[in-house]
Formats: sequence, C-alpha cells, structure tokens
Amino acid sequence: MPETTVLDAARRAAPNESSAPRAFVKSFGCQMNVYDSQRMADLAAGEGYREAAGPEDADLIVLNTCHIRERASEKIYSELGKLRELKEERSRAGRRTTLVVAGCLAQAEGGEILRRQPAVDVVVGPQSYHRLPELLREAEARPGVVDTDFPAEDKFSRLPASAPEAVARRGVAAFVTVQEGCDKFCSFCVVPYTRGAESSRPVSAILSEIEHLARSGVREIMLIGQNVNAYHGADRQGRPVGLAPLIAAAAAVPGILRLRYATSHPNDMDDELIAAHGRLEALTPYLHLPVQSGSDRVLASMNRRHRVADYINVVDRVRAVRPDIALSSDFIVGYPGETDAEFQATLDLVREVGFASSYAFKYSARPGTPAAEMAGQVDEPVKAERLGALQALLEEQRQAFNRACVGRRLAVLFEKPGRHEGQIIGRSPYMQAVFAEGPASRIGEIAEVEIVGLSANSLRGRIVSPTS
Ligand code: 5AD
Ligand code: SF4
Repeated sequence: MPETTVLDAARRAAPNESSAPRAFVKSFGCQMNVYDSQRMADLAAGEGYREAAGPEDADLIVLNTCHIRERASEKIYSELGKLRELKEERSRAGRRTTLVVAGCLAQAEGGEILRRQPAVDVVVGPQSYHRLPELLREAEARPGVVDTDFPAEDKFSRLPASAPEAVARRGVAAFVTVQEGCDKFCSFCVVPYTRGAESSRPVSAILSEIEHLARSGVREIMLIGQNVNAYHGADRQGRPVGLAPLIAAAAAVPGILRLRYATSHPNDMDDELIAAHGRLEALTPYLHLPVQSGSDRVLASMNRRHRVADYINVVDRVRAVRPDIALSSDFIVGYPGETDAEFQATLDLVREVGFASSYAFKYSARPGTPAAEMAGQVDEPVKAERLGALQALLEEQRQAFNRACVGRRLAVLFEKPGRHEGQIIGRSPYMQAVFAEGPASRIGEIAEVEIVGLSANSLRGRIVSPTS
C-alpha cells in the first residue's frame, strides 16, 4: 500500500513565520489513514505549527501507522528507531522534538510502543486523535502519554475544518471519511479491533464538509470507510440513509464533478447502490470490490459470509446497469488451510471476472484474530509462489485493460502540471494516470481525452473537448 507524506500544517496561526514550530505527518496504510493524517495536520495547524519539509526540521513528528499485515508494523518500528536518533541529534543542538505514534498500530499495541521505543512521547489511536492538542500539552509535562480510548463523543465534530490553502495544496481530489469500523469480523482481519464497531457520520456533517472542500477547489470526492457500502448515517430527521442517497446528495453539491467510494463488501452491494451506478453520471464506472478468494471453503473459513457465485452475481448486476464499469479487488493467498486446488480456484475467478487492477497479499497472521490460531498455516515459499502467480495474472489483466483504452475517449480530471512544460496530468474514471499537452488552467477541469498511447503505468492522451 502506498505511503503518503502529508506536508501541511499551519499557515494560519504563525505570527512570525520563521520562529513558528513545524509539524511533519507521515501516513502509512490505507486511505482512511491518509484522511486522518490530513486532519491531524489540520489540528497541528490550529496549534500554530507550520508545514515541515521533512522530519529533520520538524518539532512535531506524527507517524500515522498501519497494522494490517506484519510487515506494516515492522516498518514502523524501524522508522521509529531512525527517528529516535534524529530526536537525540536535534536535542544535542538544543531543539526539542515531540514524537507521536497514531493510527492502528498505536491502537493495537498502546503502551507496548513506549516500552519498545521510549523516545515516543504520545501514542494515540484512530478514534481519539481529535484530542491531540491536549495530549501534546500533557506530554510536554510528562512524556509517554497513551490514549487508545473509543470515546463516546463524535471525533469528527471536534476536528477543525481544513484551511482552504491546505485543501488547495492537497489537490482537486479529496477523501472524506463517511463510515468507520467494522462489525463483520473476517477471521484474518485486525480492523474490527483497531477501528472498532461500525459507525456512520450524519449526512449533514458529510455534506457540509464536501461543500467546504468544493468551495476550496476540490472537484472529486472519494467517500471512504472500512465498510463504506454499509453506510447508514442519519438524516436531519434522524432516519438512517444508505450510501446511494448519500452519493446522490454529494453529487448535487456545486463544484463536485466526480464521486467514488471505497472499500465495499460484496454483501452490502444493495439494489439501490447497484442502480446508482446506472443512474448517477458523477459516479465513476469503477468499483473496488474485494473478494479475497475464489474458493467457497476458504471464503467460509474467512467468515466472509458469501460464496463465489454471490460475488459473480453482484458483478453481473453492476455490469448490467453500467456496461463500461471496471473492477478491482483484493486477494489473500496462503490463507490457513488453502490447498493448491483452492488457490487455482482464485486464479479461475480472476480469469472469469477480469479486473482492471487489483491488490494481492500473502496471508499474514495477526495476533488476536481467529485465523492466526488456525491449523494449516501455509509455508512461506508456497505463499510466495502463489503470490507471484496471482500477481502475474492480475498484471496481465491490468495491461490488457490499459491497452484496450487506447483509441477510447475518457473523461479525465486534470490534477497537476506534468514533468514537462506544457504537460498536465490527470486521472481517468478508472484511476489511470493520464498525461496530455494542455494549459495549467485546465487543472480542476474534466475534459474528454482521446487515449493515444501508453507506458508502463500511465496513458498518453490528447484533449478533445472540455466536458465540464
Ligand atoms: N493478511 C494479508 N492480507 C490482509 N488483508 C487484510 N488482513 C490481512 C491479513 N491478515 C488484506 C485484505 C484486505 C486488504 C485491505 O488487506 O485483502 O481487503
Ligand atoms: Fe491499516 Fe486497516 Fe488501519 Fe487502514 S484501517 S491503517 S489498512 S490496519
């Protein structure tokens, strides 16, 4: 999963720019963490911190961590080791550094992080990071503060709005968390433990945030949640509203041109949501729908609560209303007990469905999850071999999908200037990077682009006409 550096903090509360403290927030893991990192940068901005270019010149360093696989956690501890040295170096130069570990590793390991790395000042979980300003003050007096509560108060309503300049710097496509947590308890997954029970933000709070983002120049919103299609936030009358009406309301916000949502569970793809794919022009024809395995026995053991045929049925129904839809998925290979034949069934499913792009992972035993205790843990070389075979097939499909785009006209939202003068870069509805010759004034616009060529990771296009 990509690592993102959130380079933004105050421009607001710095009376004397050069003496203002600086903050650096580094995000690991999923899109939910990218969103949380931005909100922590907003909190730091509210406390007077300006953006630091890197950890070296940061007075406040926040690592927003991931716990989904073992490697994700190991990476954080090695990063913390380097930051301890940096902290000591800065201290010798008379500069104080506050080190915060936030996110899912913080939630899962809490005080254990302080024992393994005493240079850490604050450990804060994903449900309590709105308290960061108080925690920083506490840590100033007494380093080693841990807050891994699941507080009753609504975190989102306590976060400051992002400053318009910060929004502008983050680009024309933004994430908005609409739902958090998970009640599904897939047997391999830590999310129900780190992010807690499923909860949805109220519709009006989400729409206000989207309106604010749109006024600051955002044109595309990805509605995000660990189980986003289980969204059931309250409307003004307190009645629960599903994801489809929320998408429709978001599409009506002036300035919003395009919407996406992720990540979904196949069982929550209800009729209304499927119909929305045929009905809502602003909803991109792209769906990330993790299936994990192509074997019914493995799916049952994973507690996914659906069969392979149910997945294919959802895909067929979405394709019936939106024939140009492209799909992506997540897969786990080497789940406990997975036989060769069961792995072959995953390859068969991939061949049957056809994906535009996907992620495949080796199963990683996570402490405290049911699958970690199961018999039949698969040997590492077998996992590696299966991962290689699956990734090769997925890559073949990705390239075939990209090749099939050549000659098509795609709606591209231009996001930033390209590397060469006169070039701009945007994204197709299918998340592909598209380069074209064009003026920077078109950034933030959706244009119709004829795809004329491709390279390994991007498409080359010619702007045909503006469509927005
Ligand atoms: N091991 C490997 N992959 C995992 N995922 C979640 N938990 C694990 C695990 N224990 C994958 C799933 C999920 C994606 C976000 O990460 O495929 O959809
Ligand atoms: Fe990682 Fe899952 Fe937490 Fe996202 S929610 S940061 S993927 S553990």
